[in-house]
Amino acid sequence: MSKIFQTSVKENKKAAENHYILTLAPLEKITKPFPGQFFMLSAGHGIDPLLKRPFSMYRRSGKNFQILYRVVGRATAMLKEKSPGDIIKVLGPLGNGFPKLKPRTTPIFVAGGVGVAPLFSLAEEIAGKKPLFFLGARTKKELLCMKELKSIGIKPFVSTDDGTMGKKGFITDVVKGYFTRHSSLLTHHCIYACGPKPMLEELSSLARKFRIDACAAFEENMACGMGACLGCVINTTEGFKRVCKEGPVFPLREIVW
Ligand SMILES: Cc1cc2nc3c(=O)[nH]c(=O)nc-3n(C[C@H](O)[C@H](O)[C@H](O)COP(=O)(O)OP(=O)(O)OC[C@H]3O[C@@H](n4cnc5c(N)ncnc54)[C@H](O)[C@@H]3O)c2cc1C
Ligand code: FES
Repeated sequence: MSKIFQTSVKENKKAAENHYILTLAPLEKITKPFPGQFFMLSAGHGIDPLLKRPFSMYRRSGKNFQILYRVVGRATAMLKEKSPGDIIKVLGPLGNGFPKLKPRTTPIFVAGGVGVAPLFSLAEEIAGKKPLFFLGARTKKELLCMKELKSIGIKPFVSTDDGTMGKKGFITDVVKGYFTRHSSLLTHHCIYACGPKPMLEELSSLARKFRIDACAAFEENMACGMGACLGCVINTTEGFKRVCKEGPVFPLREIVW
């Protein structure tokens, strides 16, 4: 069950340009988060900023858990200034994590930018299934988790928008090339994804074309994180759904783009 708790910062270190890893040690017992679940964090104190911000669980290590975040605005800039011993209010774990991998199925991970955050702990859990991993970033300096993936035996296919590492272009182009070359082998596969919406939309059409089951963790602006404000709804074939409550993980075939 999710709850509001206080946690203390153990470490806050740079992971790549504009990206940091925050290690948090809960000061009380909390429910173990699953890959794909998220937490709402208070970046400041009092009413600045007014709302908590959602962040995926990146990794757990014992009782500690980690957040991998990109600095984009007020709250994330404040998070960047946190030091060991600082206390942060957290709500979570929230939402539904990634579905379990079916037997005899090979996972295919597709991560765009900081979208690797919710995927990494799942990849860590099922690294033995020899997953394929596609990892995209804007530029080499912002490429995340290369070392961590290597440490669990995964060598990702890489692309950068500017060609400074891996293939030049979008990661969905690399995925499309791979699927086209290996279409006859893609019989028992399942895609797990997270990244910018255009990436997910393109992936959704590739999954349909190559008949591969696919799910993705979605991001929407969130106010409450608990299903009350309806601020985070997305359109699905089953009607509007709340990303914080029914998601953040949805089957891609359900999304109305
Ligand atoms: C379920 C969920 C899980 C998330 N997990 C993570 C995570 O693990 N790591 C992480 O870094 N972020 C994650 N996010 C996004 C994160 O919540 C936002 O980046 C954060 O709320 C921004 O707060 P801010 O005050 O710094 O920026 P704001 O002032 O709120 O926004 C600043 C600017 O950045 C833009 N912006 C906001 N969010 C994003 C984004 N995700 N990407 C690019 N531009 C954005 C805004 O449109 C605005 O222009 C997640 C979001 C959701 C809904
Ligand atoms: S953030 Fe309030 S309903 Fe989802």
